[in-house]
Amino acid sequence: KKIRVLGVPLDLGQSRRGVDMGPSAVRVAGLEAKLEALGHVVEDGGNVSVPLAETKDPGPHSAKYLSEIAQTCQKHADLVLKALEEGRVPLALGGDHSMAAGTVAGVAEYYRRQNQKIGLLWIDAHSDINTPESSPSGNVHGMPLAALMGLSVPELNIYDFLPKVQADNCVLVGVRDIDQTEKENIRKAGIHVFTMRDIDERGMRAVMEEALRLAGRNTVGYHVSLDMDWVDPEDAPGVGTPVWGGATYREAHLAMEIIADHGRMTSFEIVEVNPVLDERNQTAELAVELALSAFGKKIL
Ligand code: ARG
Ligand code: MN
Ligand code: MN
Ligand code: MN
Repeated sequence: KKIRVLGVPLDLGQSRRGVDMGPSAVRVAGLEAKLEALGHVVEDGGNVSVPLAETKDPGPHSAKYLSEIAQTCQKHADLVLKALEEGRVPLALGGDHSMAAGTVAGVAEYYRRQNQKIGLLWIDAHSDINTPESSPSGNVHGMPLAALMGLSVPELNIYDFLPKVQADNCVLVGVRDIDQTEKENIRKAGIHVFTMRDIDERGMRAVMEEALRLAGRNTVGYHVSLDMDWVDPEDAPGVGTPVWGGATYREAHLAMEIIADHGRMTSFEIVEVNPVLDERNQTAELAVELALSAFGKKIL
């Protein structure tokens, strides 16, 4: 594959500083060279410019830095769209998860222009479907899915069409920390959810097969949005909102390998890597390993 890396050093969507250094940490862990060793052609598109928190006013507490985040997502979406137009698979590096409002918009817009639809695989400990009205924190990284599904946050409606993904093709995998009002939002949106309990009961393989079938039904393929807090904090400590009971190292690799086997991933992003909270860059190193599995690395 021809891959273009797109860095989004965005930390305005949450309150733990340092996640803006995530793209750098993942590059330092050897992303480009390792993907090239796998046989891919990789180019680095650099980082999109992001306003510095110190220079801005957060604005309303219900959705802090929303206008700066929306501007960043618009720029990022344009770069994602351009990468696809130039025949490159976008591999976006975050940055907090609010950037996904831009990544998914760019991918969805590219295929919309060809009258095609995409699916969305949201792999996360959280459901990120709060609205400014429902959010307990006012952190926009807890809202991108609500924006993409058209529930709320019109500021993040990049390219002016909603929903970005049909509810029936939007699948959450591995969630285990959902705010009370998010449960209602999930029901309202009508998206599919596989919780950590589903993975425990049915196993990663069965859950992923069904998730990919749903995301892939009547679509060209699916975008994969991987929040590193999906992985257990034991293996991925460098994240701002860790939740115990996450995917193990092995489950996480298996999920990525199954995605690669199906060959229908349109684009990929890894978010929420925070090197300030990490242990000797291990979370960024795991992010690189998982990207390799998602892009086809096999044990044998
Ligand atoms: N549900 C919480 C909130 O809305 C946490 C969201 C965590 N999101 C993330 N992308 N890590 O504030
Ligand atoms: Mn290269
Ligand atoms: Mn998330
Ligand atoms: Mn999360």
